[in-house]
Amino acid sequence: MSQSRQASPASTDPAEELRLSLEREPPQIPSKYFYDRRGCELFEAITHTPEYYQTRTELAMLTEHADALLATTAPRDLAELGSGSGRKTRVLLDALVRSGRGRACTLMDIAPDFLEPSVRELQAAYPSLDVRGVVGDFVHELHRLGPGGERMLVLLAGTFGNLDRIAALDFLRSIRAALAEDDAFLIGVDLVKDPARLEAAYDDAQGVTAAFNLNVLDVVNARFGADFDTADFRHRAVYDVERARIEMRLRAVRPVRVTVAATGTRLSLAEGEELLTELSCKYTRESLDAMAGRADLAMARWVTDPDQLFGLALLRPRGDRR
Ligand code: AVJ
Repeated sequence: MSQSRQASPASTDPAEELRLSLEREPPQIPSKYFYDRRGCELFEAITHTPEYYQTRTELAMLTEHADALLATTAPRDLAELGSGSGRKTRVLLDALVRSGRGRACTLMDIAPDFLEPSVRELQAAYPSLDVRGVVGDFVHELHRLGPGGERMLVLLAGTFGNLDRIAALDFLRSIRAALAEDDAFLIGVDLVKDPARLEAAYDDAQGVTAAFNLNVLDVVNARFGADFDTADFRHRAVYDVERARIEMRLRAVRPVRVTVAATGTRLSLAEGEELLTELSCKYTRESLDAMAGRADLAMARWVTDPDQLFGLALLRPRGDRR
């Protein structure tokens, strides 16, 4: 699954980043830690729940519009950030091969364990393309993709929504810096909609999202020597209308004390206090377009589904700078 990021301190040392996150108010856990093996399986299961429309909606839109999207800038190379299960990547690569211009595909992901098999499978499925993987954090390490030109960068699954608005603008600026003048950036965003529908999507009836949220504590335990007990917490998903974002939280159901060995953190939570584990910002065409403009990007194409659940935007360097 995709790597993800919420309002995380600008540190690249993982233990330091976690320490600073836990010291915030409310305490936070960087959402990239959702995606260990079990987290990836749970996310995959979320995408099959009736409430979570994003994945199937985006896949249908890509299937319908991939050729037209690629035709806009006629790239030879694709670079996918936070490479996913590969299903959507294949839809784009099929279109790239159909265009007759396909040359290479780069997958960038934070997790080498998931990247390597994806690269192998895609290379086998697309022998005419040069498929390679780059282990890296796309928020801090876009430069590791190497120089662009005839390239399309891709960030799907609404992963962009995990960045708070400040981090999102910074990220778009770093994307702009990574784009050659003829390059483009394809981005998928979940759209502002009825709060009840959004909250249901993040709190499905089968409890898959709850299990996914709680799993992040096990990941932090394993990776940073923490002693969170998942039984001490309850999943919550709250839509903040004003900020147009879902917040996933873990609420302490009793007073909780936690020690994190790797960071030297001691955390005390009163009953009812919450950890913030994920932000998922929702956009409109207008709000995304305005943010893109501030990053010197223009929206060359906008695609949405009939119910306006999800949006795909193709961003390019602004023409007046060419
Ligand atoms: C993969 C980050 C887009 O925010 O909707 C799904 C992750 N969290 N259910 C999202 C997620 C809870 C998802 N992203």
